[in-house]
Amino acid sequence: MVKLSERIGCISPSPTLQLLKIKNTMKKQGKNILDFGAGEPDFATPDIIKEKGIDAIRNNHTKYTPVTGIPDLKDAIRKCYMDEQGFLPDEEQIIVTPGSKFGLFLILQAIIDPGDEVIVPKPYWVSYPEIVNYSDGKVVYADHLKEDALFELTADSYIEKFSDKTKAVIINSPSNPTGMIMKSEELKKIISACVDKNIFLLFDDCYRKIIYADENFESPLKLSPSSLENIAIISSLSKTFSMTGWRLGYTIAPEYICKAMAKLQGHSSSNPCSISQKAAVGALLEDQSYLEPMINEYRKRRDFIANRFNEIGNISFVNPDGAFYFFADFTYYINKLGFKDDGDFAMDILNKLNIIVVPGTAFGAPNYLRISYANSLDKIREGLDLLGEYLKG
Ligand SMILES: Cc1ncc(COP(=O)(O)O)c(C=O)c1O
Repeated sequence: MVKLSERIGCISPSPTLQLLKIKNTMKKQGKNILDFGAGEPDFATPDIIKEKGIDAIRNNHTKYTPVTGIPDLKDAIRKCYMDEQGFLPDEEQIIVTPGSKFGLFLILQAIIDPGDEVIVPKPYWVSYPEIVNYSDGKVVYADHLKEDALFELTADSYIEKFSDKTKAVIINSPSNPTGMIMKSEELKKIISACVDKNIFLLFDDCYRKIIYADENFESPLKLSPSSLENIAIISSLSKTFSMTGWRLGYTIAPEYICKAMAKLQGHSSSNPCSISQKAAVGALLEDQSYLEPMINEYRKRRDFIANRFNEIGNISFVNPDGAFYFFADFTYYINKLGFKDDGDFAMDILNKLNIIVVPGTAFGAPNYLRISYANSLDKIREGLDLLGEYLKG
C-alpha cells in the first residue's frame, strides 16, 4: 500500500453523498426508505431538455469540446443573465464546468495561496470548508447561528471577520442548508466592502430560481455591474432544471480568472460533457413553463412541513425563503430522548423509521437536522407522521 498524500488527508468524504450510499444499500435490502436527505430535485429532467441531449448523441456531438464550453451554451448563458439581470458577460468571462462544485474547486485553486483566508457562511454547504482546506486556504466562518439574527445573511457577519489575510468571501443565496436569502441592501454593503479591500466575492446562486418569498432579491451583477473585477458567480443547472446527473455548471468571473480556471480544467476534466452542454442550451433557451408548477409544489411542501413542525412542537426553525431544505433545531428532542448528539439522533431515526435526514453537524450546526423536501407530499406526510410519533418518546 502506498502512503496517501498529506493533501488528501485534509479533506473528508462528503456526508451527503455518503448518505446516498446508505440509502442505496438499504433499498437493496428491500427497505422502504423515506429520503429527506437528498440534495437533488425529485422531479425528472424535463422532456424538452432530455430531447436535446438525445439529439446531441444522434448528431454525434459526442467529442471533446472547447475547454471553457461550447459557444452556443455561452451565448445562452449570456442571454439568460442579460434578460434576468441586465448584465451581459463577455464570452471570455464564462467558463462552463462539470457541475458548479467543480467551478468552485477550480476558482479556489486559482486564487488561493497557502494561508489566505476565505470567509465561509456557517451553517455552510458541506463542500465549502473542504475545498478551501484542499486549496491550502484557511477557513474563517461568518456566523449565522447567532440567536438574535438566526441564519440572517448580513454583510456585517462577513465584514467583522475581515483581516489583512482575507482573500475571498463565499455567499450562498438562497442558502443550503437554511434557505435564507441575502437582502439587496446587505449584498450592496458587502460588495462595496469587498471592493474597498480588494477581496474576491464568490456568489453561489445555484438555487436562485427556487424562491418562495415575494420580496425582490437583487443579484450582485444587477446591483453592481461595475464590480465584476471582484465578483464571481458560481452557478448550476442541477437544481433548477433537475439535471444533477448531467453535471453542468458555470462560473461568470473576470477574464483573467476564467483563463486561470481554464488552465486547470484543461488538464483535469478537459471540458464538461458535450451532450450535457447541448442539453443545457435547451434548458436555458427553450420553454421553461415547467418551472412554475415545480416551485409551487416545493412551496406547498414547505408550508406543510412548517405546519407539522408547529403541531409537533419544540422544533425551532426559520421558514425558508428559497432552496428546498428545512434546517431545524432539535435540541429539545436530542436531550429529551437522551442522545449524545445529532449524529446519533439521525442514525436512530434511520434505523427505527427508515427515514434519512442529515445531521446539522455536517453543516457546522450541532443539534440541527436538515430535512430536504425534494420528495413527494405523500412521502413527507408519511415521514412526519412517523417522526411525530417517535418524538413523543
Ligand atoms: C449550495 C450549493 N452549491 C453548489 C452545489 C453543487 O451543485 P452541482 O455541482 O451539482 O452544480 C450544491 C449541491 O448540492 C449546493 O447545494
